[in-house]
Amino acid sequence: MAVLVVGGAGYIGSHTAHVLRRRGYDVIIYDNLCTGFRDLAEGFELVVGDFADKTKIAPVLRRCDAVMFFAAHASVAESVENPKKYYHNNVTSAVSLLDYVMESRVRRFIFSSTAAVYGNATQSPIPETCPKQPVNPYGATKLAFENALEAYSTAYGLKYVSFRYFNAAGADDSGTIGEMHDPESHLIPIIFQAIQGKRAALSVYGDDYPTPDGTCVRDYIHVTDLADAHVLGLEYLTKSPSIAMNLGTGKGYSVKEVIEAVEHVTGHTVPTQIGPRRPGDPAELVADPSLAERTLKWKAQRSLDNIIETAWKWAQKRH
Ligand SMILES: NC(=O)c1ccc[n+]([C@@H]2O[C@H](COP(=O)([O-])OP(=O)(O)OC[C@H]3O[C@@H](n4cnc5c(N)ncnc54)[C@H](O)[C@@H]3O)[C@@H](O)[C@H]2O)c1
Repeated sequence: MAVLVVGGAGYIGSHTAHVLRRRGYDVIIYDNLCTGFRDLAEGFELVVGDFADKTKIAPVLRRCDAVMFFAAHASVAESVENPKKYYHNNVTSAVSLLDYVMESRVRRFIFSSTAAVYGNATQSPIPETCPKQPVNPYGATKLAFENALEAYSTAYGLKYVSFRYFNAAGADDSGTIGEMHDPESHLIPIIFQAIQGKRAALSVYGDDYPTPDGTCVRDYIHVTDLADAHVLGLEYLTKSPSIAMNLGTGKGYSVKEVIEAVEHVTGHTVPTQIGPRRPGDPAELVADPSLAERTLKWKAQRSLDNIIETAWKWAQKRH
């Protein structure tokens, strides 16, 4: 069975491509490399193009049985400054891709959604039934595409899973691929940059939140656990209806706890400075992953220490 991994030269897509291949799937990566890296797709067939380019993607879709759609612009801060870029890529172009999919024989589609669709959630841990009220354009575009998927599914019979990831982190055990964002905006790689002298210090955005130590709490999920859920999601769709579900561990760690864990795992002290809160950061974002656990017979296996160990191995290699 052939899976088209759109956005497979990016962080989560490349890890999923590796897991798919290990499970015996044929994988084609499609990516325009706007934030992705050719290196992350090494060893795979890579088609370089925009997913809205019908002449390029339609022939590739004809060779595939399912699509995993990781490609998007994914910076909250940038989405606030430049919403046009986000609505164009994550909604307008993405819906064009859905049309091309419907013109092919592909009827299974897996989408990378996000905890940002919940905005400032009214519950913690967050179940899928929590109101979806995104507080930034990034989250709004992801929700818009989830809604489009639901409508296409009802009207045209496309079967999909929307996975709402919490904080993806960690790297493949092989040490050959890992997290690469430029500029980096994710906590653990930024901590490593501070350790490696690539930035003066880690800025902690606020230590006066209503959390046990005052810093923001997030649910860090290993990228390989995410990738495993995608493979199960694909199998689930052969016999079961479309669904949206959270992917997280159900356990939150504060920024200070992550720093302590990094210091413990790496043996390095993290230079840190406390700054003001960042507008729009909820105090706590922790998944209730029980729907995915029940439905897919999946459970996040990796600990925070394992996330840090694998990510550190990768960061040292890159350094
Ligand atoms: N990283 C996280 O913690 C996180 C959390 C929640 C949701 N997500 C979602 O997961 C997905 C993957 O995130 P990531 O961290 O791997 O991001 P990433 O930037 O590393 O990967 C996205 C990939 O999509 C490609 N791409 C973007 N627009 C494209 C287009 N028009 N045509 C072709 N390729 C295009 C980029 O070049 C890149 O390789 C995104 O949809 C993101 O919204 C990520």
